[in-house]
Amino acid sequence: MATTPLPAPSDLARHFRLDPGVVHLNHGSFGACPTPVLDAQARHRDQVEADGVRFFVHDAWPLLDRARAALAPIVGADPANLAFVANATTGVTTALHNIPLGPGDEILVTGAEYTACVNNCRAAARRAGASVVTADLPWPAPGPDAVADALLSKVTARTRVVMLSLVASSTGLRLPVERILPALRNRGVITILDAAHGPGCVPMRLRDWAPDFATGNAHKWLCAPKGSAFLYVAPEHQAGFRPLVLSNDAERLEEAAARTGRSPWQHELDYAGTDDPSAKIAIADAAAFLAGLFPGGLDAVMDHNHALCRKGRDIVCARLGLDPSAPDAMTGPMAALILPGVTDPMALWDRLYHHWRIQIPVWPTPGGTVSLRLSAQVYNTPAQYEYLAKALAHELGATR
Ligand SMILES: Cc1ncc(COP(=O)(O)O)c(C=O)c1O
Repeated sequence: MATTPLPAPSDLARHFRLDPGVVHLNHGSFGACPTPVLDAQARHRDQVEADGVRFFVHDAWPLLDRARAALAPIVGADPANLAFVANATTGVTTALHNIPLGPGDEILVTGAEYTACVNNCRAAARRAGASVVTADLPWPAPGPDAVADALLSKVTARTRVVMLSLVASSTGLRLPVERILPALRNRGVITILDAAHGPGCVPMRLRDWAPDFATGNAHKWLCAPKGSAFLYVAPEHQAGFRPLVLSNDAERLEEAAARTGRSPWQHELDYAGTDDPSAKIAIADAAAFLAGLFPGGLDAVMDHNHALCRKGRDIVCARLGLDPSAPDAMTGPMAALILPGVTDPMALWDRLYHHWRIQIPVWPTPGGTVSLRLSAQVYNTPAQYEYLAKALAHELGATR
């Protein structure tokens, strides 16, 4: 148990259901959904249960379109290019399912990709007799050009697909996709952008970046309920694009899609078997809620979180005598800090949680390093990072 009173979260924490007995500095892993958004989701569920037939045959479609319309400006894409999936892992896997691969082809990933997504790349490669190649990115990150060069230098004539994150999970690094994606397109490489940390995390411009496929979670930084993610499919890949699971309408897609007023690939992804669509529908409610927190809307929320993250990072760096592991230009609402001398990340993670009551990950990062990744969301305060710095100084002083 913590030996001193825990620092209070911000006043905005009143909207969330976070355990007050924990200092929450890990919004990045699973997000947190505010009560008004959960209430909206409950109303959508009530609508399902009031008349399931009416809901799935008629009402669900315009509600999904409302969510798509809310999400489109946030990710910078035309709603016609967006469909819903349960999570980013499913998004990456669905994209892979639609990319023809052959023996000898290579899928290139960065060394900081999310494990589940890499696992699905490996499975797709195995099925086709292809292979997965890893480009190690420099960590600490010197800057956007060094990171882009490290990835692009691994592209060969065999590279068929590149899967890369917009914001990497373990390092929190915002990758220079505006440089990488056009360079790959010029070389005829198909790109899957994993923007699990995308909507509400950093500004997104899919229209300009022009990946072939992109996916992202709304449950993380947009604070939507769990089970709300999007899949972006570039117009040239939409004809014949299929979900992982075929629907009732799979053999008469044109006709069914005409009834629901969307394109066939969107129709099939929007309904591929009975499911609870309330989380996806509540994306619209989450976007409106978050945008309503500050006069400047969602952009102001992101600016606030990025500034708070840099402040939190600087507080910890100053106390421990560390340098930031990434430049500000590559830092959004998460910052990972290399902790020299820590050999057992899990033990420190456990100590921070069980003794200090701080929820924050400590894990292996590229180059054999161990890093602590802090998050900043509207419910956090500088005092919470001061407390983290004190806890770390105590733990590292004692263990190093
Ligand atoms: C970069 C990245 N990609 C993919 C995922 C997987 O997201 P999900 O578990 O929602 O599929 C995560 C989860 O944290 C992530 O950080």
